[in-house]
Amino acid sequence: MPGLSGPSDYSQEPSRHPCLHINAKEPFNAEPPRSALVSSYVTPVELFFKRNHGPIPLVDDIERYCVDISGLIETPKKLYFRDIRMLPKYNVTATLQCAGNRRTAMSITRKVKGVGWDVSAIGNAVWGGAKLADILELIGVPKLTSCTQSGGKHIEFVSVDKCEEENGGPYKASIPLSQATNPEADVLLAYEMNGEPLNRDHGYPLRVIVPGVIGARSVKWLDSINIIAEECQGFFMQKDYKMFPPSVDWGNINWNTRKPQMDFPVQSVICFLEDMQSIKPGKVRSLCIHGFIKVRISGYAVSGGGRGIERVDVSIDGGKTWMEATRFQKTGIPYIAGGISNDKWAWVLFELTVDIPQSTEIIAKAVDSAANVQPEKVQDIWNLRGILNTSWHRVHVRIGHSNM
Ligand code: MTE
Repeated sequence: MPGLSGPSDYSQEPSRHPCLHINAKEPFNAEPPRSALVSSYVTPVELFFKRNHGPIPLVDDIERYCVDISGLIETPKKLYFRDIRMLPKYNVTATLQCAGNRRTAMSITRKVKGVGWDVSAIGNAVWGGAKLADILELIGVPKLTSCTQSGGKHIEFVSVDKCEEENGGPYKASIPLSQATNPEADVLLAYEMNGEPLNRDHGYPLRVIVPGVIGARSVKWLDSINIIAEECQGFFMQKDYKMFPPSVDWGNINWNTRKPQMDFPVQSVICFLEDMQSIKPGKVRSLCIHGFIKVRISGYAVSGGGRGIERVDVSIDGGKTWMEATRFQKTGIPYIAGGISNDKWAWVLFELTVDIPQSTEIIAKAVDSAANVQPEKVQDIWNLRGILNTSWHRVHVRIGHSNM
């Protein structure tokens, strides 16, 4: 595509924040420390996780950059960056979560395949851009269309990065046309992240944002859009990011038996323990009264499909008893699942201040607005690709030490 190209090696990668934990260098995959996630509701761009499958593309001429829209529609069209910027701009606060978040912990039970991630393959950002529903309307596909006259039912996004899994071809994914043409689904062609132009790592100049759906469908460095009859047949839709039962292994897998994963399930994670009595805030002190210490436990909770977080339960005795944590998005506005002032696609942060014993296991589990709850054991949801580890999040604490 004129203006945007995918390099075939890693000699022109952007610079990155030194505090990111690098899970794979080439392609670059990295996540921030746990504590960074609860430091702010909106994750700073430089601390946002980076998930790539090839070298980061380059823009040589933004004036020549355009997106080709074709396939099962009457009038194919090329949209230049300036055309997209002229459309009404929307800011959508949405949490992006990689389906591989918490994969490392799943692998402890039984080995899974894929880049290992701790709990920070997730971040919350304000994405600015045009609504895909407006763009499709512009090219003659009305709002709330689920099938075009020529039988198009899915919309495929194609990038320019060179991915090994695609034999050097580009990353691609699709979503149903009914979702793309629904203005309330808030699917964006985004050119801004947290009020700044997207940076190269996150998809400059243009990326798709599909709120409430696993990050794999939010294609970066958008090159073309195809309206197609069936789901995208690319590797990342058909041979990856599918949820299999624990009985399926590499010897008996049949990829065609499962649909590509879209919405993510309810998730919660403990990110930080702060000693509330310490002389030095933030440090767990070694002295405690009657064997207990007052701590503030904080973390994030999120669910897919726009479902809110109804409750976050925290246990400080390994799951025998539970207390409800406080949830919030914006300071001063109480969070109520389904509330009109909520960011419906965004995580909630939670906290609970409580006296904990010197040595214990703290657990978090969330309940979403459809009353879905996280599964207790990782074994029950183990799958060979290690996706969607949403089991209860456990943190072992000994005063003076914690595994945060
Ligand atoms: N788009 C392209 N073109 N190439 C990619 O490797 N990775 C996907 C998605 N879009 C990817 C992509 C995956 S798996 C995730 S989780 C998100 O981008 C990560 O987005 P981020 O790097 O901006 O956090």
